[in-house]
Amino acid sequence: MSLKRVLPFTKSLLEEAVLQGDYVIDGTAGNGHDTLFLSQLTGPTGKVYAFDIQEQAIQATAERVAAHTHVELVHDSHSKITQYVTEPIAAAVFNLGYLPKGDHAIITKPDSTLEAISQCLDLLKTGGLVLIVIYSGHEGGSEERDAVMAFLQNLPQQAFDVLQYGFINQQHSPPFLVAVEKKK
Ligand SMILES: C[S@@+](CC[C@H](N)C(=O)[O-])C[C@H]1O[C@@H](n2cnc3c(N)ncnc32)[C@H](O)[C@@H]1O
Repeated sequence: MSLKRVLPFTKSLLEEAVLQGDYVIDGTAGNGHDTLFLSQLTGPTGKVYAFDIQEQAIQATAERVAAHTHVELVHDSHSKITQYVTEPIAAAVFNLGYLPKGDHAIITKPDSTLEAISQCLDLLKTGGLVLIVIYSGHEGGSEERDAVMAFLQNLPQQAFDVLQYGFINQQHSPPFLVAVEKKK
C-alpha cells in the first residue's frame, strides 16, 4: 500500500460525507477543482456554493463547472457565508493560501478564515465534515496556521471530532489537513 497524499485523502473523506442531493460549500473556489468535485458528489439534486474574492478565480471556476447548474458562484468573502447559505450542509472545504498561478499577495487571512469556519460549523449537519487544507510556507501562512489550529484544538470534544492528517518528515512546510466532524 501507499499512504494517501493530503489532497487525495481530503477527497476520499468528501466522497464518504457527501451524498447526492446534499448541500455543500467550497470556501475557496480558486481554479474550481474542488467545486467541480463537490458538484459531482451532490449531483443536480443538491447544491454547491463556491466562494472567492477574486474575479479571476470566479471566472476560472465558472468555466470548469459550466455544465453544472447546481453550482452557485459567490464573488464575496467566505466570512459572509451565512448571508448566502441558510440550508444545513453535509460538508465544507477550504484550501487556504493563494491562488496557484495567481497573485501570491492575495491570501486567505486569519480573521476571515476563522469567521468562515465558524459559520460552516453552525450550518453543518451531524455527521458532516468541515475540511481545511492548511498551507503555511508563504508569507502570512504560519500566522494563519497558528490561529486556525488554536481555534480547532479548542472545539469542544462533546460536539466535534477534530483530526489532523499530514506528513511530518517533509521539507518546505507541506500542506496538511484538519478535518472536523460534527458528532451525532
Ligand atoms: C489555494 S486557493 C484555492 C484553490 C482551489 N481549491 C482549487 O481547487 O483550485 C485559495 C483561494 O482562496 C481565495 N480567497 C482568499 N481570501 C478569501 C476570502 N476571504 N473569501 C473567499 N475566498 C478567498 C483566493 O482568492 C484563492 O483563490
